[in-house]
Amino acid sequence: MKSKINKLMKLKGKSPIVCLTSYSKTLSEIIDKYCDLILVGDSVANVLYGMKNTHKVTLDMIINHAISVRLGTKKSLMVVDMPKNTYNNKIQAKKNALKIITKTKCDAIKIESNKKNYSIIHYLSNSGIHVMGHIGYTPQNKKKFKVEGISKRDEIKLLMEAKEIEKAGAFSIVLECIAGKTSKKITKQLKIPTIGIGSSHHCDGQILVTDDMLGLSGFYPKFVKKYVEINKVIDNSVQKYRNEVKKRKFPRSTNSY
Ligand code: KIV
Repeated sequence: MKSKINKLMKLKGKSPIVCLTSYSKTLSEIIDKYCDLILVGDSVANVLYGMKNTHKVTLDMIINHAISVRLGTKKSLMVVDMPKNTYNNKIQAKKNALKIITKTKCDAIKIESNKKNYSIIHYLSNSGIHVMGHIGYTPQNKKKFKVEGISKRDEIKLLMEAKEIEKAGAFSIVLECIAGKTSKKITKQLKIPTIGIGSSHHCDGQILVTDDMLGLSGFYPKFVKKYVEINKVIDNSVQKYRNEVKKRKFPRSTNSY
């Protein structure tokens, strides 16, 4: 497993790192061919469960989705988000991280920074658990969406936060909605790869919520590029199915025993 982590880290400065989220086996089987990293994100709350934020995601919810993702993920590094309130202190964090790793066979876990949990990252890393950091807009800790790192003061704070996370032993860090000039500085000054979402092309890699880029989630802020409007494809297919059932055109003899 260490070699998968090393392989990902070695991409820094050489080749942009391709990352996407997944919550299921079927989707993972497709994206695994093209990704370096698959994240079982707690965005599952908004995307699948219709929750207004990620705060109510439980350990069991994320573990169940991760078990499904593991079945479809062979090549990519698989990272699982630790839900809010599952890493409030070192002992709780280690117990829950080990539970996630043991049950899902994931390669690493991700925890959001609240500017205080460096010691938790350090403790987990020292225990042999691979940790991905997450700074900028961190939905578990922030109420309102805001682009970060625009002012000089904010830039200095984020740079310090990123360096502390690297020092604590994280193997990579997500930069969410951070101004390009600040992402550029962080990426240049860190040895570990930065993975951006809404944080410009200056990052070492990119991540998007897959349902957003497929046009399925209904959530399309500026940083999301919709590569397809899969909702329209589904709509069209379901409409055809309905019409055929209504007109008794489906099932045909070829679909019957
Ligand atoms: O939960 C998630 O999907 C994430 C990504 C947006 C980075 O944390």
